[in-house]
Amino acid sequence: MSTSPSSVPAAASDGTRPGAPGGLPGSAAAPEVLQVAGLRVAYGGNNALDLERLSLRQGEVLGVVGANGAGKSTLVNAIAGWSRGTPRVSGTVRLDGVDVSALPAHRRARAGLLLVPEGKLVFGQMSVDENLTVPGDVHDAPGRHVYDREEVFELFPRLRERRGHLGSQLSGGERQMLGIGRALMLGPRVLMLDEPSIGLAPRLVSAVLETMRTLAGKGLTILLVEQNVRAAIEVVDRLVLLERGRVIVEGTASEMRDDPRIAEAYLGGGHG
Ligand SMILES: Nc1ncnc2c1ncn2[C@@H]1O[C@H](COP(=O)(O)OP(=O)(O)O)[C@@H](O)[C@H]1O
Ligand SMILES: [Mg+2]
Repeated sequence: MSTSPSSVPAAASDGTRPGAPGGLPGSAAAPEVLQVAGLRVAYGGNNALDLERLSLRQGEVLGVVGANGAGKSTLVNAIAGWSRGTPRVSGTVRLDGVDVSALPAHRRARAGLLLVPEGKLVFGQMSVDENLTVPGDVHDAPGRHVYDREEVFELFPRLRERRGHLGSQLSGGERQMLGIGRALMLGPRVLMLDEPSIGLAPRLVSAVLETMRTLAGKGLTILLVEQNVRAAIEVVDRLVLLERGRVIVEGTASEMRDDPRIAEAYLGGGHG
């Protein structure tokens, strides 16, 4: 588990790189920002996740795909330190080389490990503007940018148009943008998204996922959980296929496109 010296944020000037031919996510020289080792999660006696190793380099978009129940949410929840029910979690999570495994969720979030959950983390009884008012005690740090509301509106102009509406009045796509916007205002080092495409019209799916490329182009490290393999493969650098809590296959997006196991997942899980 070595952390390469963090010299250049390699992905910063790359622009978009859909499909990442050649698969050089954030370039091989970019430092590993997130490292997960020996992560096991069990609910009662049932193993939901058994992951030997997973790492993300700065500026990389890693997709984790798999059918319903494969363990995708369990994975990002465990990395974020969230627990639904009472799972037994063991293993190590390192952020920029620092072991955060013992930290509770809010401390991991403060360190920049941010999850936009399936429920999207939006307050229904607050307006878009109010949702985009985040306690201002986070500040820019190397590799972390704390977005302000204006910057979120630049990324998602639709939210500016809807700024006076309540969270509960937004469409699924707008709620997703708002959830991502809130996370960006907390200065993510790693942004994790749990099925951002779920319930969205196909046009919005591409819009939201393309935004991930924009953010990664600025050096943000992204872990994207998706059941929609077809959409995910268009924007990720690398793809991991989970099945019953285990990694079945992983590789660059271009490698994975031709993998029969991925093709099977397309047919099985890809909606849209
Ligand atoms: N709170 C919980 N209590 C018991 N079992 C759970 C709980 N959450 C998830 N599981 C089980 O863990 C496995 C993985 O679930 P999950 O991570 O939600 O899958 P995915 O997000 O890929 O659909 C499933 O078998 C699911 O039934
Ligand atoms: Mg899930």
